This record gives sequence, structure tokens and C-alpha cells, in this order.
Amino acid sequence: MSKLSLDRILQSQGFGTRKYCRTLIEDGEVAVNGVVQDNYKTVVDTESLVLTVFEEEWRYREHVYIALYKPANYECSRKPSHHPGVLTLLPEQFTWREVQPVGRLDHDTTGMLLMSDDGPFIHAQSSPKRHVPKVYQATTAEPVTDALVAQLLGGVQLHDEPAPLAALVCEKKGEHQLEIVLEQGKYHQVKRMLAAAGNHCSALHRSAIGGLQLASLGLQEGEWCYLDEAQLALLAG
Ligand code: URA
Repeated sequence: MSKLSLDRILQSQGFGTRKYCRTLIEDGEVAVNGVVQDNYKTVVDTESLVLTVFEEEWRYREHVYIALYKPANYECSRKPSHHPGVLTLLPEQFTWREVQPVGRLDHDTTGMLLMSDDGPFIHAQSSPKRHVPKVYQATTAEPVTDALVAQLLGGVQLHDEPAPLAALVCEKKGEHQLEIVLEQGKYHQVKRMLAAAGNHCSALHRSAIGGLQLASLGLQEGEWCYLDEAQLALLAG
């Protein structure tokens, strides 16, 4: 629980600069737990706080933890160059809060992308020491053979890696479909592993991170949701 002035609270939730937040409050655009409050110096308890800004309700959150169903043709980089950035799929407040992707998916990869403004969480989730399994559905240009599966499970050498990288799990799901589970998150890892094994990845989708399945979130492509404590706990695997 913490008590802060209303202008600071609004700024912390991504509604803009302190000056702009003060104007919003003085203009009567902000309600605290349903009651309009036009004095920006008012000290408010953040516990169970619900703000109404321009008639839209926002629960106070110290940090946000989000899952986005990333569509193709969006970039995860901070300064996207060829396609719109994934942040354009979220409310503008999240850009102000400096929400960022946890790791990256290629612009043409679809599926689950975690996003947060909690630095230690982002760091812990992306740490190579963490070994969180990530589940991918790959479509291959050439048919999936038993030899391909065996190679991916046995380990393939990528040219800039000191040792071969192996899939934790690799299962043929169709003539050109493969489910592959990786615990590392190297650059273009699935595509490079498939290429090193003599095939080519023509489409890629991330269906789960740890024990959290994208399908359990009920999202359509381009949609996002907050993750609760139980869902965050599943990320550990
Ligand atoms: N591996 C890839 O090759 N691309 C991704 O986007 C994720 C994993």
C-alpha cells in the first residue's frame, strides 16, 4: 500500500507528463473510486484504487504484466523500421509507462509475447540462466522426416554458437508441421536450427511459454490481456 498525490499517481499510470496530468485533474476529467477529484495535490491510497479518466476505468497497477497475441508484420524492436511496432497494439498509456517486450519474436512470427514495465521481471524472464521452455509451431518448406526430428533432438551446430543446440521436445504434427520446444532464446533460433538441419521454416507461431498456453487466454490475433498472479506463476514452466 502507498499513498501518493493524485498527479503522481496519474503520471505513474502513463497518462502523460505531470503537467498534463494536473490539467486533466483540474479539468474534472479524473475520478477516484467513482468520485471526481479536481485537486491534484489530494493524497490517494493506491490500494484497490480505480481511476476513471475520460470516463474510462483503470485499476491502479504498480506494474503491468501483459500477454499479447502478436500478429505477423509487427516488430518487437524499440525503433521499428519496416513494420509497425508491437506497442501500437496496446493503449498509449503503456508506451508512456515504458512497457516493453520480454525478449523478441521476429516480425513474421505470430503468437505469445509477454510485455511489462517491470525491469527486474523482464530481466529475470529473459535471463539465459532461467531455462523457461518456449513452445513453437513451425511450418516447414520441406516435409518433416524422422531424420529431421532426430537431428533437432540430438542438437545442430549453428555457426556462431560454441556448442550444438538441441530441442527439448520435437514432434511431427503434420506433413509440414513441427512442434518444437526450446529452452534457450537465441536470435532466429528455430529458423536457424531448421536451416542447419536442411529444411526451411516458412511460418512460425509461439503457442506457450512455460506452462502458460496462449490458447488458454482466449485472445484473437492483435489482442492482449493482463496476466494475473496464477498465470505469471505458470511462466516458470
Ligand atoms: N525462433 C525464431 O527463429 N524466430 C522467432 O521469432 C522465435 C524463435
